[in-house]
Amino acid sequence: MPKITFIEHNGTHHEVQVAVGLSVMEAARDNNVPGIEADCGGACACSTCHVYVDTSWNEKLPVKDAMEEDMLDFAWEPSELSRLTCQIRVTEDLDGLIVRMPEKQI
Ligand code: FES
Repeated sequence: MPKITFIEHNGTHHEVQVAVGLSVMEAARDNNVPGIEADCGGACACSTCHVYVDTSWNEKLPVKDAMEEDMLDFAWEPSELSRLTCQIRVTEDLDGLIVRMPEKQI
């Protein structure tokens, strides 16, 4: 199973094994990783599953669609590295993925 590392804003690391097909948000939720609130349950309607992902992963990540781009406008301190974890399906290619949480979710 792919391994994903979540890094909280305070630097705390959480490494979790994730079944292919789950979303990165579900991986955090199922492993009690703090900092990903996912208020809308994964419907791309809240932005509280916001993280930063290094651009070196861009080729392996699904392309950001217009809805995700729009929702990220409501996230806390979005940047060009911002993604919504509910919109990223875990594949074998994402083994080793590192995502960093913002200071807070809004
Ligand atoms: S869980 Fe609401 S946008 Fe991702």
